[in-house]
Amino acid sequence: MSEQLSATLPTTTTTTPDFLPLNGTDYVEFYVSNAKQTAYYYQAAFGFEIVAYAGLETGLRDRASYVLQQDKIRFVITSPLTPDSPIADHVRLHGDGVKVLALWVDDVEKAFEATVSRGAKVAQAPTTLTDEYGEVKVASIHTYGETIHTFVERKNYHGAFMPGFVARQSMFPVQSVGLKYIDHCVGNVNLGEMNRWVEFYEKVMGFQLLITFDDKDISTEYTALMSKVVSNGNGYVKFPINEPAQGRKKSQIEEYLDFYRDSGVQHIAVATSNIVHTVTELRRRGVDFLYVPDNYYDDLFERVGVIDEDIEVLKKLNILVDRDEEGYLLQLFTKPVQDRPTVFFEIIERHGARSFGKGNFKALFESIEREQALRGTL
Ligand code: FE2
Repeated sequence: MSEQLSATLPTTTTTTPDFLPLNGTDYVEFYVSNAKQTAYYYQAAFGFEIVAYAGLETGLRDRASYVLQQDKIRFVITSPLTPDSPIADHVRLHGDGVKVLALWVDDVEKAFEATVSRGAKVAQAPTTLTDEYGEVKVASIHTYGETIHTFVERKNYHGAFMPGFVARQSMFPVQSVGLKYIDHCVGNVNLGEMNRWVEFYEKVMGFQLLITFDDKDISTEYTALMSKVVSNGNGYVKFPINEPAQGRKKSQIEEYLDFYRDSGVQHIAVATSNIVHTVTELRRRGVDFLYVPDNYYDDLFERVGVIDEDIEVLKKLNILVDRDEEGYLLQLFTKPVQDRPTVFFEIIERHGARSFGKGNFKALFESIEREQALRGTL
């Protein structure tokens, strides 16, 4: 992978100007059946604080939304208040899942015009929202499945989140677990659709193909998947896209698609600068992670060489390590965070490495297959 990675990383000498400059991820919005309780889970277990709220008390009749924040990461948790809304439809079909991957821009009109003129399907035309704290401009386009990208321009706003929301705080002392920013968001798409969506990100959004994994990289005795990673110009936004590949049994991607009933967000990778602390805290608070057998650690030093962390501590916490030519990374995956085997989180700490843990794929997929076998879906 090293040659592949260095050969395909975007260079700074590119002559084409970035037609969709992004400052990063603005927020990720989840549609869930019970936002109040989900918001509690992200506060108590993941250390997010409530910063804003919208619902009946703020004049909304069809939804309740809680805005949660930890360092640069912002989640919006929304649930329907009526049976006949698009939010209710989304939850009935997909279960709890990600609806919006919002992108922070300086100019919403330009972002909308640049993408729609290149073929993006409109979800919402540019709209200006105002209140006493200023204005926020938003516009949305469709991506895979029912997922949308919302462009958010907030340079003229100093309120808690955006107009329509009121500032609110957590009702108990929330302890951060040290999560800092969103590293990447992964989509699972239907069989045969990966290249179409990679092309969408390249042509419509100006992203560049960073890495390709095929079924030779990512396969076990039973299952296989294909994956391509696209990144925006400054590298702040990275979207790996997976599709199932032919395997002997049902792949984890097919299991996701069966339960989500469509293409959708598979996992969100959140970065920490102290994964030992973060994972110790998450485990203490009841977050469950994929299990990797002890023998994974037997040849760890031979595979990754010298690292700052104590291998015994990593083994105890089941943290995985991988190295590329630029450095190493530590990572760990939660089990799905709702009853359907769909969305989960990755906790990642990077020490120079810009790759995605290819050396761990086999151990990880075998771990996921053990979970699939328990669910009767392998
Ligand atoms: Fe990941």
